Amino acid sequence: MIHSLAWQVTVPLVLAFFAVFAWVALGAGDKADATAISQTSGRIRSWIFWVLVAVFLPIFGYTLRDLPYSVAAVAGGPPQVIKAIGHQWRWELSGTEVQVGKPVDFHITASDVNHGFGLYDPDLKLIAQAQAMPGYTNVLRHVFTRPGKYRVLCLEYCGLVHHGMLAEITASEAK
Ligand code: CUA
Repeated sequence: MIHSLAWQVTVPLVLAFFAVFAWVALGAGDKADATAISQTSGRIRSWIFWVLVAVFLPIFGYTLRDLPYSVAAVAGGPPQVIKAIGHQWRWELSGTEVQVGKPVDFHITASDVNHGFGLYDPDLKLIAQAQAMPGYTNVLRHVFTRPGKYRVLCLEYCGLVHHGMLAEITASEAK
C-alpha cells in the first residue's frame, strides 16, 4: 500500500524531471548567443545530455525492475497472509504453516507497546524483521526458501518477559 503509493508518486516525478531537462537541453541549442563559440558549447551540452539519457535510462529501467517489492513476489502467485500481533508477552499469529517458494505477507502490529518482529531460520539466523507498533500495520513480505521450523522472536525490549515472546512457523514443500 505504502510502497505502491511511493511508486505512483516517484515515476511521474522522474518522468517530469526528464521532460524538464529535455526541454532545457533542446532550448540550449536554439537560444544560445549568436557567437559561434557559445553555439558550439550549447551543441556539446545537448549532445552530452542525450548521451547521458541513453546511458542512464536503461540503467534506471533495469534497477527499478529489481525493486524488492511487488514485482519479485508476484512470481510465486498471490501471497499468503499471516496476521502477527505482538502482546506482552506473546505473539498471536493467524497461521503457522507456510509453503516454500510462495510469498508470505506478514501483517504486523501490536496491541500494547512496541515489539520487534524478528523471523529466524532453522539455524537461528535472522532473515527478516519489522517493527510491531500499536495502531499501525507493517507488511513484511517473505519467501521461505527451505522447509523447516522457523522462529519469531521479539527484537524490541518490551518489558519483563520480552525474551519469552517466541512463536514457531513451519515451512513445508508444496504438495
Ligand atoms: Cu515484545 Cu520484546
